[in-house]
Amino acid sequence: MPSNLHPLFVHFPIALLLSYVALDWAGRIWKDRAFTQAAWYTLLLGLAGTLVTVITGLLVARGLPADSPALTTLNLHKSIGIATFVVFGLQAVCYARNRGTYTRGKQALHTVIQLIGVALLVTTGYFGGELVYTFGVGVSALLP
Ligand code: HEM
Repeated sequence: MPSNLHPLFVHFPIALLLSYVALDWAGRIWKDRAFTQAAWYTLLLGLAGTLVTVITGLLVARGLPADSPALTTLNLHKSIGIATFVVFGLQAVCYARNRGTYTRGKQALHTVIQLIGVALLVTTGYFGGELVYTFGVGVSALLP
């Protein structure tokens, strides 16, 4: 398998999981089930994209030397990336059980979990960028 597949897939969780949250909020603000239904399918696609991203990330990380200065950042990126998958996966389970309609208390909890998911996703992307643009992980030397 080519070692540079991770950067190809990282865009899917970022775009789809953020779109899921936006569509879910649109459904609540305009009380339109069409948005809520679109949010559900976008969440499923986002989870599939995140799973592939996590797998390709784990594969590319195996090539990093044990004494690499990027190791701490890599471990943070990895843990937060996996946590992102777990948190959005949890939302899918809750969504399926409640069919996208929550009581007031559950709605508040759902929103808090969504915000935690978004924070984890953005932080994962940030540390991913650090790996490439600060530590040069996966980057060939610049040609003269
Ligand atoms: C939600 C899951 C994840 C997201 C959204 C994500 C996102 C990113 C992003 C945006 C980059 C920078 C790519 C670039 O600018 O070209 C990156 C790089 C990287 N990520 Fe992830 N990542 C995730 C999970 C993981 C996991 C679980 C690992 C396992 C250790 C990992 C390992 C790496 C490595 C080694 C790099 C640098 C080399 C490369 O880009 O191929 N990632 N990631």
